Amino acid sequence: MGEYDGKPTDAVSVRVWDRPTRVFHWVLVLCVAGAWVTAEQGMTEWHERLGLTILALIVFRLIWGIVGGEFARFSSFVRGPGAVLTYLRATFAGRHPEYAGHNPLGALSVLALLLAVGTQATLGLFANDDILYEGPLYHLVGYDLSGTLTGLHHQMFNILLAVVIVHVVAVIGYMLLLRDDLILPMITGVKRMAPGAVPGRIRRTPWWVGLAILAVCGAGAYGLTLLA
Ligand code: HEM
Ligand code: HEM
Repeated sequence: MGEYDGKPTDAVSVRVWDRPTRVFHWVLVLCVAGAWVTAEQGMTEWHERLGLTILALIVFRLIWGIVGGEFARFSSFVRGPGAVLTYLRATFAGRHPEYAGHNPLGALSVLALLLAVGTQATLGLFANDDILYEGPLYHLVGYDLSGTLTGLHHQMFNILLAVVIVHVVAVIGYMLLLRDDLILPMITGVKRMAPGAVPGRIRRTPWWVGLAILAVCGAGAYGLTLLA
């Protein structure tokens, strides 16, 4: 018998986050933190490397959202406003529904995070630091437009920071207020849940397919520097 973990005794362990999704998440966290530090320190070469890695990760995640494992697929978790409202009503009424993958509200934050990080990295491609550095796609837009896009790169970072803060506060809120630990599953891949909440059919995609897709995305992102 394991220790009582606050779940019903018939709770089952379900592998929800496949390896590529977990690696994507934690490498993304490290790279975004690194991109921030290197930007502040004027370490442009490393800022570009991390930014391109982030771009590759985001494109990978978009593809993995179509061909990846069950709970990584957008079709399994992106829901309309009706589902979000139903979810919110149930949660505020004290009947927090259990989801194997992202819940309908979490899905919105996933989309916001992917959009914010993706936009930030894309803007960086066209940015310049007015001294020595020009982003790999600078020459496509020229000096004036690059200046505008660099300004947007600065402003977008504040939006990104806000979205990330909401994300982290939400995850901690789930743990403290709803007693729903989302963090451990994002590390181990496994969630404990009531058998009734587990979907009948769970599609799996081998991790090496994810690795191959990520390698192609990485080559594509770094290939952009050849265009500079
Ligand atoms: C999500 C990924 C990225 C994040 C979070 C990020 C963040 C930032 C931040 C916060 C700054 C402002 C630094 C400051 O002046 O205080 C900055 C500047 C800059 N970033 Fe990024 N960046 C990202 C991706 C990229 C990419 C992919 C490139 C180019 C390949 C790039 C190129 C630049 C350049 C050239 C500047 C200097 C702009 C200036 O001096 O005014 N960034 N970035
Ligand atoms: C730069 C900072 C961060 C970014 C850009 C980020 C981005 C993301 C993204 C895109 C997802 C969706 C995962 C997917 O389906 O692919 C996600 C989920 C998640 N993140 Fe983060 N994250 C950040 C920081 C953190 C931190 C610091 C924590 C831990 C405290 C965290 C905990 C989680 C958890 C638990 C989930 C799963 C939520 C659920 O079960 O629905 N994240 N994050």
